[in-house]
This record gives sequence, C-alpha cells and structure tokens, in this order.
Amino acid sequence: MALHVIILAAGQGTRMKSSRPKVLHALAGKPLLAYAIDTARQLSPQCIHVVYGHGGETVRSIFDADDLDWVYQEEQHGTGHAVQLALENHVNHEDRICVLYGDVPLLSSITVSTLMDVSDKLGVLTARVSNPAGYGRIIRDGNGNDRIVSIVEERDADDQQKLLDEINTGVMAGSAGYIRELLSQVGRNNDQGEIYLTDIIQLATSAGTVVDYHCTQDETEITGINNKLQLAAMERLIQQEKARILMESGVTLLDPDRIDIRGSLTCGTDVEIDVNCIFEGQVVLNKGIKVGPNVYIKDSIIGKGTEIRANSIIEGSEIGENAIIGPFARIRPETRLSDSVHIGNFVEIKKSMVAEASKINHLSYVGDSTIGKRVNIGAGTITCNYDGAYKHQTVIEDDVFIGSGTELVAPIKVERGATTGAGSTLSKDVERESLVVERSKTRIVKAWQRPSKS
Ligand code: UD1
Ligand code: CA
Repeated sequence: MALHVIILAAGQGTRMKSSRPKVLHALAGKPLLAYAIDTARQLSPQCIHVVYGHGGETVRSIFDADDLDWVYQEEQHGTGHAVQLALENHVNHEDRICVLYGDVPLLSSITVSTLMDVSDKLGVLTARVSNPAGYGRIIRDGNGNDRIVSIVEERDADDQQKLLDEINTGVMAGSAGYIRELLSQVGRNNDQGEIYLTDIIQLATSAGTVVDYHCTQDETEITGINNKLQLAAMERLIQQEKARILMESGVTLLDPDRIDIRGSLTCGTDVEIDVNCIFEGQVVLNKGIKVGPNVYIKDSIIGKGTEIRANSIIEGSEIGENAIIGPFARIRPETRLSDSVHIGNFVEIKKSMVAEASKINHLSYVGDSTIGKRVNIGAGTITCNYDGAYKHQTVIEDDVFIGSGTELVAPIKVERGATTGAGSTLSKDVERESLVVERSKTRIVKAWQRPSKS
C-alpha cells in the first residue's frame, strides 16, 4: 500500500492580482509551494504528484526534483478534476492518497498523519474557525451520531449553512481506488460549473460509507493564501515566530517586530541584533556578534565577536573573528575576511581575500584581490580589475601600506612591506620594501587668473 501525495497547485490565484503564479509568491523567502512540498516529503510518500497549470514551466523549473511527478492541468475544471488527473499517473487501485493544497503553507505533517491514521476509505481534515467565510462548510447529520454528510461550498450554501463554523480545510485522505470511483460520478452541478472534489463526500455517504475526519483546532495551519493581505499577515506571523525562537535561545533583538529572516539564521550566545535587519538564505552569526541597524546579510558566516555596523550589506561571504565591518560597507560574494579585519564606510569588496588585521577603512573598491596581513589600504583606493573584457587579479602582500587614492591597475602585485604614495596610478609590480610614487611633478603658476564670464 504505497502512499501518494497529490498537491493541487494549478489555480491562477486571481485574487493575488499578479502575473506571477500564486504558488510562486514568497513567504519568508520561500515560494508558497515549497511549504506544501516540504510537508508532503515529511510523510515519506512513494511519490508526490504536483498538479500545475498556470505559469506552468516556471513553476516546474523552480522545484524540479526526482521525487516530484508533474501533472499538467491545462484548464482548471476544479479540485476534483485536478485530483482525477493526478490519479491517472501510476497510482494503483490499492494505494493510499492524500490531497494537499499548494496555497496552504503552514499545515503540519503531524496533522496530516493524524488524518491518515483515522481515515479508512475516505477522510477529511476539518477545522473550527472563528471566521468561516470563503470556506466549504461541513454538513453533519442531526441524528445524534454527528456523521459528516456533505460539504457545501460558500457560494452554493444557504444562509443557515453559512452559519456553520466547521469548515473543509481541503485536505483529504483515503483509498485511491475508492476516490477515483467516486470522482467518476461527480457532476458539475454547482455555481462554477466545476468538478468539485468536495462532492465525493456526499456521494460516499449516500452509498453508506462513513466519512472519517480529524478536526484541528489550529486555525493558522489550515489558512490558505488567496490575496496579498493574507500573504502579508502570514509573513508577519512567521517572522514573529522566528523572532520568538531566537529570543528564547538567548539572542537579543532590540525590536522583535523589526527583523526579517528569509531563510535560516543560526546564532551563538550573546548575539545582539538592532532593528530593521534582514537575513536571507543561510546565515550564521557566531558568539558575541553585534549587528547594527539596517543591515542585510545573505548566505554568510560571521565569526565570534565581530561587529557589523549600521547599513552594511554582506552577501555570500565569510568573515572571521573580532572584525569590524561598516557602517555602510558592502561585502560582495566570494569574499573572505580574516580575523580582526576592519572594513569602513563606503568600501566595496568583491571576490577577495583579506588576511588578518588588515584595514580598508574609507571609500575604496577592492575586487578580485588577495590582500595579506596587517595591510593598510588608504582612503579612496581602487583596484582597477576590469579592462572592459577580462577581470584581473591584484595581489598585495603582508605589511604593505597603500597610500590614499592609489589606483592599482590589475594584474598587479605589491610585494611585502612596500609603500605606495598617495594618488599613484600603478600598472607595474612593486618590489618588496620599496616606495613607489607615480604622480606628475607639482607645477605652480603664480597669479593665475581663472576664466570669468563676460
Ligand atoms: C477549496 C474547497 C473548499 C475548502 C477550501 C480550503 C473545493 C471545491 N473547495 O475551495 O471546500 O474550504 O478549498 O482552502 O474543493 N486547483 C487546481 N485545479 C483546479 C482548481 C483548483 O489545482 O482546477 C488548486 C488551486 O490551485 C488551489 C486548490 O486547488 O491550490 C484550491 O483551489 P481554490 O480555487 O483555492 O479552492 P477554494 O475556493 O479555496
Ligand atoms: Ca483557496
């Protein structure tokens, strides 16, 4: 008895008012559909069938993985139609199926497992909610046994039914063969003229089948995203939860309402994070790190005791211990800064290695460079790494002093202990321990008359 999970994700999501397929809208840095796929994977199914339609190939290309079977639903004739199509793809009569929705991101696999445990031929996950508007309502018989009789969609419900607060979450589980058979009997006799998956409930009960159910109390886990307001509300909820977990593990957040984690943020002890910081991808902040306000860090690892000052941007980089970065520093991908490095304001570093205790404190561009230990790079230094076609390397060895405003035309090497005079444009390698100055002689014209307007 293999388990097949079917994820419905073909809907256009009209209410998002966007050209992007609904399931690709990001929640905490991950597309909506990724959440449903994660939940499905936790159930260890034999196969996950994703029914897709709108934005077809884009959706597919973003998620493609070996355990996913892509079912194309060219025209969206309803949730029942979508499940029918998935069932045509190598699902055997005796297999078990479970239906999830691509726009319900927080559903826990434990809740789904509980439903599957209680479901024999057919089971549905229901929920009691404070505001049932928009959901299909669970109709139970009034004969005391409280059995589920049918599900009525909001748009097909009468006033009495609309008052019911037990709703259909959309999640169903049961026997593939049985559900396939029921679906073949479903008509399109509803407000939208669609094949509703929900209609199989009534068909089952009229055939004498007891429809199993699990009713969850957790409203957020079953909440679907249909518009931008719901997306934003859920984003806040997730961020608050992430902030709570961080604070519980000892991280100091100056304002837990002003942090965004779009991925995973791992922190050591005594990490302090000021307001309006964004962390994307996988970020690791080791012990004792201080992060100033308005800092953006993506896919980076930062060593113990380092301070990231206000308004700095760090991407795809590794930074050592006790370093000082910023304010207003930009560290671009593939950069490695060793321990005790200082990077100051308006300094851009790209794809470079900077060894221990070197300083680049003001207004500089350093790209494609290897910089040794205890090097001081003066204000306004530029590595001219690009000749219009190719990128070239700059090598600066230990204990070099680069004077302010030096331009290093790569490829170039400045050997150990050398000094470059301020304002030099250097295009030849510099010998160790030497001083190089490349600038024209000072010329003084006395009593110089500036041009004036007549
Ligand atoms: C559906 C349920 C409703 C339930 C609610 C829970 C039906 C008829 N109604 O309503 O009882 O309370 O979900 O959120 O099942 N989809 C397809 N192909 C289609 C149609 C839909 O893949 O042809 C997908 C959508 O992309 C979406 C999911 O199925 O992920 C649900 O579709 P949607 O139109 O949002 O259904 P609701 O009206 O919300
Ligand atoms: Ca929906």
